[in-house]
This record gives sequence, structure tokens and C-alpha cells, in this order.
Amino acid sequence: MPTILAFESSCDETAVAVVADGRRVLAEKVATQAADFAAWGGVVPELAARGQVAFLPGLVEAVLDEAGLRGEDLDALAIAAWPGLIGSLLCGLTCAKVLAARWQKPVVAVDHVQAHLAAIHLGRERVPYPLLGLVASGGHSHYYFVRGPGELDLLGGTIDDAAGEAYDKVAAMLELGYPGGPVVDTLAATGDPSRFPLPRPLLREPRLALSFAGIKTSLLYQIRGPQGRDPLRLDEQGRRDACAAFQAAAVDCLAGKLFQAAERAGVRAVAVGGGVACNRGLRARLAADCAARGWDLLLPEPRHCADNAAMVGALAAPLLAQGRVAPWDLLPLPSGAAGPRAVVT
Ligand code: KG4
Ligand code: ZN
Repeated sequence: MPTILAFESSCDETAVAVVADGRRVLAEKVATQAADFAAWGGVVPELAARGQVAFLPGLVEAVLDEAGLRGEDLDALAIAAWPGLIGSLLCGLTCAKVLAARWQKPVVAVDHVQAHLAAIHLGRERVPYPLLGLVASGGHSHYYFVRGPGELDLLGGTIDDAAGEAYDKVAAMLELGYPGGPVVDTLAATGDPSRFPLPRPLLREPRLALSFAGIKTSLLYQIRGPQGRDPLRLDEQGRRDACAAFQAAAVDCLAGKLFQAAERAGVRAVAVGGGVACNRGLRARLAADCAARGWDLLLPEPRHCADNAAMVGALAAPLLAQGRVAPWDLLPLPSGAAGPRAVVT
């Protein structure tokens, strides 16, 4: 089974990992620039790419060292080549191609969103396919019918914000800084969700869709007046209550639609990937609901939910086995959806 040097540089993280058999992580490193972007309130693409250029060589050396391998020992290199920021994608892809040319190895290009779901293979012997998968991250909140790694059909998803984006906007509303998801999650644990009643948009509708706009607006009007423009006058406990109220609504919607979709598809296994899958409220809710139903729940470890390179190695292994190697002139696809010439089969 293959040993793969995998890269993930689609947004602000720079991640490199060595993964064996698509399951065992031999070494992994992530250089994060999140703190640099706090002052900007979000990712600045050009700055992200400049950081990635600087980080990549050192990270490659560090993971190969830790795994006790040389480049020549690898079977392939892998990269998340779509979707993402063009400059960031180019950094990882160029690095992977240059090293692959030097070591005479193939490059496997994978879809970042699919890789988030393939992360369920890491550290796990067997995955009970087919299953219902949710990718909830800063850019995506979508449900998939998953037949295998990289074999999935989109069933539905958000009609406005992605879940992580909504968490980040609620954090900004509460002046909690960026990225906001982890902070909202932490404060929510000691808040009272009933203090701010919030809607659960589309939850009772049969349509497999999510919407976060109404939840955010309702919270905004409750904490900053009917125009949403009053100064924030919440004390510490008030912010905790606001976080708890948003988290309860978001978790109800994300989990509710996941089970709705699974029941409709006739499967009894669900998986969640992406940064929001780190959320303790969501994890606890899914664990309780799956235990009550006797269903399988597949959640990657938190470090493999947020952007990471091990998930790229997990998806690349089965693709490599199918001979799906990228051509040398492969370009990154910022908006996603690989075209027919993106991989050679
Ligand atoms: O998957 P990811 O690392 O990057 C993208 O592909 O977008 O997801 C990042 C998103 C951010 O919006 C971040 O606020 C959110 O995931 N996030 C969380 C938590 N940890 C990260 N949201 C809610 N609760 C968390 N614990
Ligand atoms: Zn991601």
C-alpha cells in the first residue's frame, strides 16, 4: 500500500503530511496564519500565499524527517488542487509538482471538500459505506450520499452562508475576534440558549437545505436593537448566552437535516468533516442521536476536521490505486468542480 506525501494549501493553512495506506499518519505538520489575519477580520489571499511559499520547504523537510523517509521512498505526492484561493492552491501544487519531478513520482490531485470526508479513514480500519456525509466548513455546508472515498453525490446544502462562515460572523457580531467558531463553541458551553429565542429555518421542510441568514439576523436584532446598529451592551454572561443560543440553533439545523437525509437515503451511518465538525456541541449531539438510533457515527479527530494534509493523503490513496494521476500541466481550479481533463484515468 502506498506512502504518500500530501499537501493542503487551499486557504490560509499550510499543511504537509506523510500518510501510509490512506489510513496511517506517519507525520504531519500545519503552519497556521490565523493569528496574522485576526487584525483583518479574515483571510487576505495575497498574504496567505506569501506565507505558504515561506513555510512549505521547511514543513516538507520536517515531516520526511519525522517519518524517517527520503523523497525517493515515497510512492506518490498528493495535493488538494480545488476549490480554494488561486494563489494558495498554486503554492501547494507547484511545490508538489517540483518535488515529484525531482523524485520521479506521480502527483494525485484531489478535491478539498471530498478530502474533508475522506478524513474518516484516518486511524480507522473499516468505513461502513454507503453513508450520509456532511461537510461543514468555512466555505461549504453540504450533504452528500457517499458510496466510497471520492465517490459522492451532492444532495443539498446551504442556500446562504456556510456554517463556519456563520459562526465567524456571529463571533464578529459579539466582538469575539477571528476565527470565531472555536470561541463561540467554548463560550456556548456555559451559556443559556433560551435567553435569545432563534429560528430553525427550513428544518421542518422536506427540502434538504440549510439557511443561516435568518438565525444571524434574529440574534443581531436581539443584541443590537431592531436596526441592528445599537452598541453591543452584553456583559460576559450575555455573550455566553448569545453563543449558546446560536450554537443550539446551528446544531439543530445541521444535525436535523443530516438525519433527515440519511433516513430518506435509507442509510444508517453518518459522517461529518470540515472545521465545524470540531464543534463540541455538534459532536455531542450527533453522538447522542446516533447512539439512540444504533447508527454508526464517523467523526475524524478534531485535528483532521480543520484543514489538514492527512485528509488529502487519505483520499489520494484509493485514487492512486485506480491510476488517477494528474497530468504535469494540471492547473488549480479555484471554483472547484474538476473538469474532464483534470485527472487522467
Ligand atoms: O475546514 P476549515 O478548516 O476550512 C475551510 O475549508 O473552510 O473550516 C474553517 C471553519 C471556520 O469558519 C471556523 O470558524 C470553523 O471552521 N470552526 C468551527 C470550530 N472550529 C473551527 N466552527 C464551530 N465550532 C468550532 N469548534
Ligand atoms: Zn476545508
